[in-house]
Amino acid sequence: MPKTRILVIDDEAAIRDSLRMTLEYEGYDFVGAATGQEGIALAEREAPDLVLLDVKMPGMDGLEVLDRLRAMNDALPVVVISGHGTISTAVEATKKGAFDFIEKPFASERVLVSLRNALDQRRLRDENRSLKKAVEVRHQMIGESGALKQVMAAVGRAAPTNATVLIQGESGVGKELVARTIHRNSLRSRERFVQVNCAAIPEELIESELFGHEKGSFTGATEKQVGKFEQADRGTIFLDEVGDMSAKTQAKVLRVLQEGEVERLGSARTIKVDVRVIAATNKNLEEEIEKGRFREDLYFRLAVIPIFVPPLRERPEDIPLLVRHYMEYFSRENNVRPKRIAAGAIEALQRYRWKGNIRELRNTVERLIIMTGGDTIEAADLPDGLRSSSGGFVPPKPVGGDADQAKAGTLREFKENAERAFLVEKLRENGWNISKTAEVIGTPRSNLYKKLEQYQITQDSDG
Ligand SMILES: Nc1ncnc2c1ncn2[C@@H]1O[C@H](COP(=O)(O)OP(=O)(O)OP(=O)(O)O)[C@@H](O)[C@H]1O
Ligand SMILES: [Mg+2]
Repeated sequence: MPKTRILVIDDEAAIRDSLRMTLEYEGYDFVGAATGQEGIALAEREAPDLVLLDVKMPGMDGLEVLDRLRAMNDALPVVVISGHGTISTAVEATKKGAFDFIEKPFASERVLVSLRNALDQRRLRDENRSLKKAVEVRHQMIGESGALKQVMAAVGRAAPTNATVLIQGESGVGKELVARTIHRNSLRSRERFVQVNCAAIPEELIESELFGHEKGSFTGATEKQVGKFEQADRGTIFLDEVGDMSAKTQAKVLRVLQEGEVERLGSARTIKVDVRVIAATNKNLEEEIEKGRFREDLYFRLAVIPIFVPPLRERPEDIPLLVRHYMEYFSRENNVRPKRIAAGAIEALQRYRWKGNIRELRNTVERLIIMTGGDTIEAADLPDGLRSSSGGFVPPKPVGGDADQAKAGTLREFKENAERAFLVEKLRENGWNISKTAEVIGTPRSNLYKKLEQYQITQDSDG
């Protein structure tokens, strides 16, 4: 780590010398200037971390130097030292943005304390800034395909309103990112964004989760609980996987949307809430309605502003941008030297089908950044499945043989057969480890479990 550099601007050589001794003894780098002009020049050239500045100097006086320094770089902390320490100079220096004011003669300990405080404050501010920036980078929506631009335009239109938004799209396409972006750009951005994953919460708990309950309202309700709708009051609630809600819960949610009020389980009292609802699902809700699994009236309430996020394979133009974005991000995150990527590798990535969409791409890039030895990621460095996808998508063989697919009369049957085969393939590749497989294909574990059940996939059926 480079040493912390302190610039001392004081016309008295004796003071500079004594400060040099103190500072160097403490492990700081010392730079000295005898006049204001020299000090400003050195501040520019030496990029000090802090300035100790005398007030009374021939030529340019300290307060003027302070003004110039602040104008140059207002993040540079300045501690003012003066032998003519009147209250009024101290006040003026502080008004001009000096961090601290020290009177001569001073004990070196006093200087060191002030200096450490100033440096700490600056470090905190820097950290804060980089944290904020990291948050922004994490929430950035990357891509410039026409399809993504349409999504962004819809986000822009929806954000400032209170309208309910329904986001649809495959797993991993960025539905949650869209929801968060809408909230961050809304008038509610200072209030809470409360997320509820309707698929992950067991059926018997979801109502109390959403609406809360009073103590003793059911077996196990030992404490009262404030529901997510109440928690999100004045803010936004994000109903993720809304297609997985039971009929009963759907009816209750519909009521909140209509009446703007909730009722805790076990309470007759209704509570007014001002909540903006954003819902998302990777199910096709129109299909769910047809099958009688989703209420049409709820659908219309939710889909005031519908946003469809297209799958990644339908916008391959975004792939190079996303790959570069994540290469940079993960190099920084893992402290590895930035790598380049060969054109051939990018092309292979653009040809691949990305069932897990951006989440799968992101995981792939992270693995490549960590696992690739050289400075450049070549096509040969890509995992097998990715390299061999050249020439377009070859659907994996269904477990039950080609006959299954041939028998598939409807598009849905075909899709289901292909999905089942895909899952079995991936499970096998990952040694039937559910967590790992879920991660690789970019779907929540809960969803994978559901699929296993739906298709009655077990390791035994793998044969
Ligand atoms: N346009 C984008 N630019 C950069 N990163 C993105 C973009 N879209 C999605 N991501 C990232 O991809 C990952 C998956 O996105 P997200 O969780 O929003 O998907 P989802 O549609 O909610 O998935 P699921 O249906 O599985 O819940 C996240 O890490 C997200 O930040
Ligand atoms: Mg999601």
